[in-house]
Amino acid sequence: MADMDGFKEATNFGIGQEVKTSSVELKGTANMGWGMKNRLSRIFNPKSGRTVMLAFDHGFIMGPTSGLERIDLTIVPLMQYADCLMCTRGILQTTIPAGVNKPVCLRSDAGSTILTELNRNLLIDVEDAIRINASAMAVMMSAGDGDQEAITVANLVKAADMGARYGIPVMGVTAVGKQMARDSRYFALASRVCAENGANIVKTYYCDGFEKVAASCPVPVVIAGGKKLPELEALELCYNAINDGAAGVDMGRNVFQSDKPEAMIQAVYGVVHDSLTPQQAYELYQDLK
Ligand code: R5P
Repeated sequence: MADMDGFKEATNFGIGQEVKTSSVELKGTANMGWGMKNRLSRIFNPKSGRTVMLAFDHGFIMGPTSGLERIDLTIVPLMQYADCLMCTRGILQTTIPAGVNKPVCLRSDAGSTILTELNRNLLIDVEDAIRINASAMAVMMSAGDGDQEAITVANLVKAADMGARYGIPVMGVTAVGKQMARDSRYFALASRVCAENGANIVKTYYCDGFEKVAASCPVPVVIAGGKKLPELEALELCYNAINDGAAGVDMGRNVFQSDKPEAMIQAVYGVVHDSLTPQQAYELYQDLK
């Protein structure tokens, strides 16, 4: 029982003062619980509502990709510039200092390597995501792949169920089958299907007509960078995506395969959060380089 001696009467009720709400309400979050919102607010900057996720999960299907041979040497120095880290539990547990104060979007599915076709995709145990203190779980959904579509949708649904139970958002990652046209019709369908099945964030690719992809998806959409481009083109890609409604980027190769990754991630950050034009961001890249 608290000591009641010298009890001070409550008087400061702020009568007449408006109750402040959060600055940016992320798309699709109005009916979410506190844990989900809190985790999302670690990923998406509460002021801009946007994010720069640094993706370095490529090794889970590709092995030691160029730029990711020694993550301790190449990625750890970049983490300070990212809003969120996207990686596997294997790299997190072996290579990323546990003291890093960055949210993690944990790659939470697995299934095959690039040596084979996609097969029998499965999920890691949500308890491991909790142990790791993941702020989100990333799970692939392969729309239009006859063998894998249903399996990957089932995985996404399962991840969304687990995420809802523990307040962990799920990021649906649209995997593009080899036969699929990489156009706005396909990406809008794939993104929407992810959200309809419970994804709280969608990662997809930029394309012509991307504004339709973003507009028809009821949750924030971030874009992957894709194959390495010249730096100015990569910055144009970010700029166009943000202009067309993306809530940020989940970028890997265009950062860690850049000549100067540390300069490049800061330039990307400038486009996403500070509304730099591609040219301004490129100048920043060159100055920092
Ligand atoms: C792909 O499955 C991986 O999840 C990557 O995280 C994703 O493609 C983003 O990386 P990048 O910008 O290199 O495409």
